[in-house]
Amino acid sequence: MSFDEVINRYGTHSVKWDMMEKLYGVPKEDGISMWVADMDFRPPQCVQDSIAKMLNHGIYGYFGDDSAYRQSITWWMQTRHGWAVDPASIFTTHGLVNGTAMCIDTYTQEGDGVVLFTPVYHAFHKVIKAANRQIVECQLVNSDGRYEMDFDAYDAQMTGTEKMVILCSPHNPGGRVWTRDELQGVADFCKRHDLILVSDEIHHDLVFPGNTHIPMTLVDPSITDRLVMMTATTKTFNIAGSHSGNVIIPDETLREKFGARMMALGLSPNSFGLFMATAAYSPEGAAWVDELVAYLDGNRKLFDEAINSIPGLSSMNLEATYLAWVDFSGTGMSREEFTDRVQTQARIAPNHGPTFGTGGEDFLRFNLATPRSLVEQACTRLTEAFSDLQ
Ligand SMILES: Cc1ncc(COP(=O)(O)O)c(C=O)c1O
Repeated sequence: MSFDEVINRYGTHSVKWDMMEKLYGVPKEDGISMWVADMDFRPPQCVQDSIAKMLNHGIYGYFGDDSAYRQSITWWMQTRHGWAVDPASIFTTHGLVNGTAMCIDTYTQEGDGVVLFTPVYHAFHKVIKAANRQIVECQLVNSDGRYEMDFDAYDAQMTGTEKMVILCSPHNPGGRVWTRDELQGVADFCKRHDLILVSDEIHHDLVFPGNTHIPMTLVDPSITDRLVMMTATTKTFNIAGSHSGNVIIPDETLREKFGARMMALGLSPNSFGLFMATAAYSPEGAAWVDELVAYLDGNRKLFDEAINSIPGLSSMNLEATYLAWVDFSGTGMSREEFTDRVQTQARIAPNHGPTFGTGGEDFLRFNLATPRSLVEQACTRLTEAFSDLQ
């Protein structure tokens, strides 16, 4: 597998590339798209083969017997994360934004508060708002370029109307792999305030050497009756278009409620997602992920070195994810100016920090899951765009 191959994605309905010019004004001719979190790599051959097999057969009817699919999930979680998943505890949703929305719908009422540790993945905000729940922003502390939690402050913020926490673990943006103590802190916080905990672990396979992701369910058995786990193949294997995610609910009562809402809404997964996921969660898929993480680690080091040598810019040290989170506050520029320099001068489309909530104001997020030559070009262009700071 060569992650170095530059694959032209224009004209493929890629939101990342085909919408870049429209959304960011970054020209198609030589722009570099570094926003939405999908990768510019093909998935492993085993995933391609699973789709080719469907194509060759040529019939795309309703899916039946998902036992191999469930087994592939339990195999992956056990071998890669040391987590024994009961196959009966798995629900498949239309991706994890849908999984999050389903949790909000199932376990909270209109007007209830839903806690987010911000800045955090922007779609959480969108689905909470759209469901007429209140976003309760508990801001992460930026401690020398590393996000930390401050539970004393969060305790003081609680009003009693909060019903749920959505945790992003590992964290997007900023790339923290939460430690056991931090996760225990979240568990205790949920117990203190009687909150359902939804742990979105979609980035759990993209963890850099020296860090270990701990599935929330392994941290504290006493929170099982308030815990919903979410995982997916889509981020790991770059198959987000399959819109498939796993909501894993160990507790029977929570599971029954979720199952009832799935039933009431008539939700069931598409066969493409199931075929691809079954193929991906395999020894071949695992070997590919190991290579991918090593490649992303190289991209991350290259990018951070270039960015951190520009005075006033600082890229957070990613422990996981391919989403570099760059702080421009040291430049003294307004958000409009640094964003304009990145988009107009460097011709790069990044995600804008404020969409991630409070604490994201002075940041841009850059997607590094692209061939190294594009990361190199991006570094050169950013260095030139901010050359007056040298
Ligand atoms: C934390 C997190 N959850 C969910 C998603 C998207 O999930 P899906 O494509 O399955 O809806 C993303 C995408 O970047 C993400 O970062």
